[in-house]
Amino acid sequence: MLKKIATSVSVLLLATLTACGSDSTSSKDGDSGGAGKKITMGFAQVGAESGWRTANTKSVQQSAKAAGVELKFSDAQQKQENQIKAIRSYIQQKVDVIAFSPVVETGWDAVLLEAKRARIPVILTDRAVDSDDDTLYETFLGSDFVKEGEKAGEWLVENTEGPVNVVELQGTTGAAPAIDRKKGFEEKIAARPDIKIRASQSGDFTRSGGKQVMEAMLRSNPDVDVVYAHNDDMGLGAIEAIKAAGKKPGKDIKIITVDAVKDGMQALADGEINYIVECNPLLGDQLMDLAKKVVAGEKVPKRVVTEETTFTPEQAKKALPDRQY
Ligand code: AHR
Repeated sequence: MLKKIATSVSVLLLATLTACGSDSTSSKDGDSGGAGKKITMGFAQVGAESGWRTANTKSVQQSAKAAGVELKFSDAQQKQENQIKAIRSYIQQKVDVIAFSPVVETGWDAVLLEAKRARIPVILTDRAVDSDDDTLYETFLGSDFVKEGEKAGEWLVENTEGPVNVVELQGTTGAAPAIDRKKGFEEKIAARPDIKIRASQSGDFTRSGGKQVMEAMLRSNPDVDVVYAHNDDMGLGAIEAIKAAGKKPGKDIKIITVDAVKDGMQALADGEINYIVECNPLLGDQLMDLAKKVVAGEKVPKRVVTEETTFTPEQAKKALPDRQY
């Protein structure tokens, strides 16, 4: 009887050891694209500052589930130090891949170097970092924010006449979309010296920030003709401020925004916004695809640009019934 038990125990032990062995092999297999290993991704999100961000988070979570990727998710509440903490904790947890959307462009080299030394690949999603060392990340998936600013500027140049007083609601100070959307816009309106940016301030990509900044801008610039808001949420906040000041958004003051989330598109269809440049938040599927490839050691393009369009009120009316976000 004792002999029988001893034999069963050693068979069990052998099976366990073999399984452990195949596990570490499967981790290697995973690294080289082998089947069977579930990838763990640490994702450090910016926060929940806008409708765009909420849609982006949902897209990442749904796509991870569909792709069989185990997602460790953190919300940095728009603070760089929180994102750095989250990335360090993912490094400690030895995740297979880290993805993040940097709150601001600069100040990432140290933590990215830690990830590199730990041999954990990093994917930038939505926003870029400003670093001289592009070996610190595998790829950057996201929009061309300069182009978005250019599209907004082009519309203004083509659709206004005479002197035009613009106020600009910038996104989070130091964030790639705030820097690039400003740059692209300014480059295009340079063709029309009679278009002047009278005031430019950050509303932090939030609706409340947009409202508050717009209230102050209306007091100091009562003759404003156009609002250029770096996202829909700040544009929607500006609409509230404009109405409270007794003016008609979209008519007395024209509004251009970026994103094209449902609330923004509804305001565009209602004539309260005049033009929206799309920024697509549905990056989840592409992100999971890239993650699987980099973990498997496959080569991926260093830059993957999201395809986007623009919307007039008529186009918004048509697009709204099928809008996913
Ligand atoms: O990085 C993308 C930008 O961040 C979106 O335009 C804005 O709504 C968000 O907060």
